[in-house]
Amino acid sequence: RCTAVILPAAGSGRRFGAQQNKLFADLAGKTLWQHAAERLSANPNVRHLVMPISETDRPRFEGEFGVWIQERGIHLVPGGRERTDSVRAGLDFLRSDERFQDVRLVAVHDAARPLVSDHDIGAVIQAAAKIGAAVLATPVSSTVKRRLNDEHSISTIDRSDLWLAQTPQVFRLDWLAEAYEKHRGRPATDDAELVERLGRPVALIAGSTDNLKITHPDDLPLAESILNRQLH
Ligand code: C5P
Repeated sequence: RCTAVILPAAGSGRRFGAQQNKLFADLAGKTLWQHAAERLSANPNVRHLVMPISETDRPRFEGEFGVWIQERGIHLVPGGRERTDSVRAGLDFLRSDERFQDVRLVAVHDAARPLVSDHDIGAVIQAAAKIGAAVLATPVSSTVKRRLNDEHSISTIDRSDLWLAQTPQVFRLDWLAEAYEKHRGRPATDDAELVERLGRPVALIAGSTDNLKITHPDDLPLAESILNRQLH
């Protein structure tokens, strides 16, 4: 009875604006995806790690990082057009091979979140083991406005029960599989949404704003300072 990780890494990172996939950006001597992979693998419940990647990046993953990946037993699978397609590819891989028969929980974690803490990984896995599904999130701290049809007309949304979803998002394998089987067409912005649509309970676990998703190059100096604080 163990947890498998799906680490979607098949994005193109267009908003990052670099020639290469942003996940190859350097953070204190390691790429972003290596930080994410190491942190997830360090949890004692985690036994398998599947990483959907794009065919464009495959030569680099298998060349420059081939030994590192092999030493850690990371499985590379072809990702898809949308993040949902990449997660689905990881899920199909886990379900198609009897090496993964002992997997009960699947943790989906964006390779672009290199700073998630041991503590938060443990907390979200533990909650999912109990409830069946759990996501890390932080409370919304800004005032949230909705712009109405008329351009000078706005309203204010009560933020007291609003949360920003992060990853890891952890699910019973059978729930996530059912959610992906029933999902057709309508895009979801995260995996929990698909499980919510099944009417399953999903626990919200208060995480840390340190667990930022690297989107723009400006995020890197901030990530570096968070990393330094985490290490000292
Ligand atoms: O682009 P964004 O940072 O929101 O993507 C979140 C994560 O999903 C990234 O780690 C990215 O590599 C991954 N992704 C993927 N397949 C896609 C698009 C994004 O694995 N088609």
